[in-house]
Amino acid sequence: MPGPDFLIRSLLLLAATACCMAQPRYDIRRASGPIRIDAKLDESDWQQARSAGVFHFPWFQGGEKELTEAKLLWDDVNLYVAWYAHDRHISAAVTQRHGPVSKDDCVEIFISPNPDKVKNYYTFEINAIGTMLNRARTDWWTGPPTWEPEGVQYRATFHGLSKKDESPQDDHWIVEAAIPLKNFVRDAAHTPPLDGDIWRLNLQRLGGITNAQASTWSPLPEGVRSFHTPEAFGAVRFVNQSVQGSQNEAAQGREIYNRSCTMCHGQDGTVGDRGPALAAQRRYLRSSEADLFDAIKNGIPGTLMPASALPAADVTKMVAFIRSLRATAIDAPTDGDVAKGREVFLSKGRCSECHMTNGRGGLLGPDLSNIANERSVRFLRDALTVAKPQIPAGYQPVRIVTAEGKAIRGILRNEDNFTLQVLDDGGKIHLLERGELRNIEYGRQSLMPANFGETLSAAEFRDLLAFLTRLGDAGRNNAPAAHRRRR
Ligand code: HEC
Ligand code: HEC
Repeated sequence: MPGPDFLIRSLLLLAATACCMAQPRYDIRRASGPIRIDAKLDESDWQQARSAGVFHFPWFQGGEKELTEAKLLWDDVNLYVAWYAHDRHISAAVTQRHGPVSKDDCVEIFISPNPDKVKNYYTFEINAIGTMLNRARTDWWTGPPTWEPEGVQYRATFHGLSKKDESPQDDHWIVEAAIPLKNFVRDAAHTPPLDGDIWRLNLQRLGGITNAQASTWSPLPEGVRSFHTPEAFGAVRFVNQSVQGSQNEAAQGREIYNRSCTMCHGQDGTVGDRGPALAAQRRYLRSSEADLFDAIKNGIPGTLMPASALPAADVTKMVAFIRSLRATAIDAPTDGDVAKGREVFLSKGRCSECHMTNGRGGLLGPDLSNIANERSVRFLRDALTVAKPQIPAGYQPVRIVTAEGKAIRGILRNEDNFTLQVLDDGGKIHLLERGELRNIEYGRQSLMPANFGETLSAAEFRDLLAFLTRLGDAGRNNAPAAHRRRR
């Protein structure tokens, strides 16, 4: 008879898998100091801000799905936007104001300042040499098809060039923009926004010649092939607190949590004894700050989860802590040279001999195409440096000798009383009858080497981690099932 704890977990899991693909959300934190618009992003506010998350590729299938990292900040005057586009083929040629920049390598932000009127939205499209196109697609705008926003400052990596051709040195380009909030007075409830105000927006990337990809932060409805789909925009919330402030808050929340909640949820939320492990890597029933706050303040009726008598400020801090526990690597990718990290992955680390990324690589280890969305930075660092105490199910190494004396080496995918399913070194699956085997030897160590801290130099390790913490399978929704991660 399974215990109540097991039942709770199964129910949570069931409810979670039944759920839907929600529009993305993002909290925009306040800039704590001035932001210099120079396409460098070297302010600590930019460095510490979370990126908005993975971009999706609703129709682009042709080539490499290159990553775009976008971040937003605000203060009383401006909304700040930064795009960091990983790109090995950068080209742009449109120099005329309001020209067709989306043919070039180009990034965009479409903003609906009023969530009750999402169809009123404003567009900012900027190419890699710094040409901008703007439109006000609103019910009040009666002017020409294009629109002149006031006071926008922006810089692109190749700003001012008359043309940028693809080059073997291409690696990434950046666009940094400060958009004065006063441009949105006709639609926003408040300018500047109040703490907690919600706007809707989408971030996109388009164009170029080689890998002329089209990707979007907010997924589009099935079959839609246009970014002019405000109903599908993501939701952003203006938070009147800096990135540093929220980190301090999470640290305080951890202390309160460890004083009040560990008897059910475990120290640091890592193992659950009578409640679910709050930091576990799974989909949660409650992920928004409001839902978490409600669960902690009022308890969850009909379950063991009690209401809390702690003051609201303490509950808020615990919410910040739980959210920080759940952050996956893609929210806070580590510094380093991503291109060099990819090299380590393919050559010195030999990772691709055992791991697939984007449909290529070995099968003995889990597919890593989407690992940065699934695991935290700490988990990834541990995976490379600390052997797991137990070999995860599905990865037990075995050495088998069949009745005919044939030796098979590989991992045990599945077994029952009568049969074994073994994936061998060469990627072949063997279905074997137990009764017909001469010998089965179970390896004591996982095939995953856990000594990359020693076999790689510090720089190689850093670059590899920078690469891994950006491995988001943005095209997951379109990927053939065979490339999806095994669960
Ligand atoms: C008596 C045991 C118990 C204590 C004490 C307890 N919890 Fe829980 N908690 C649970 C159980 C059981 C659930 C699962 C409820 C359900 O089935 O939805 C839960 C669920 C939650 C959830 C929702 C998880 C999700 O994403 O669905 C959060 C958040 C949470 N607890 C936070 C806390 C915090 C913070 C504290 C300390 C103030 C705390 N809990 C104290 C038992 C407990
Ligand atoms: C000889 C095969 C092999 C090589 C080489 C290898 N791995 Fe693995 N890896 C595995 C297996 C098998 C697992 C699953 C079992 C485990 O976690 O111990 C795994 C697990 C992992 C995990 C954990 C995934 C998860 O979600 O649990 C990560 C991350 C990982 N490997 C990264 C790497 C990287 C990066 C490299 C190269 C530096 C690498 N691996 C090299 C076989 C390998």
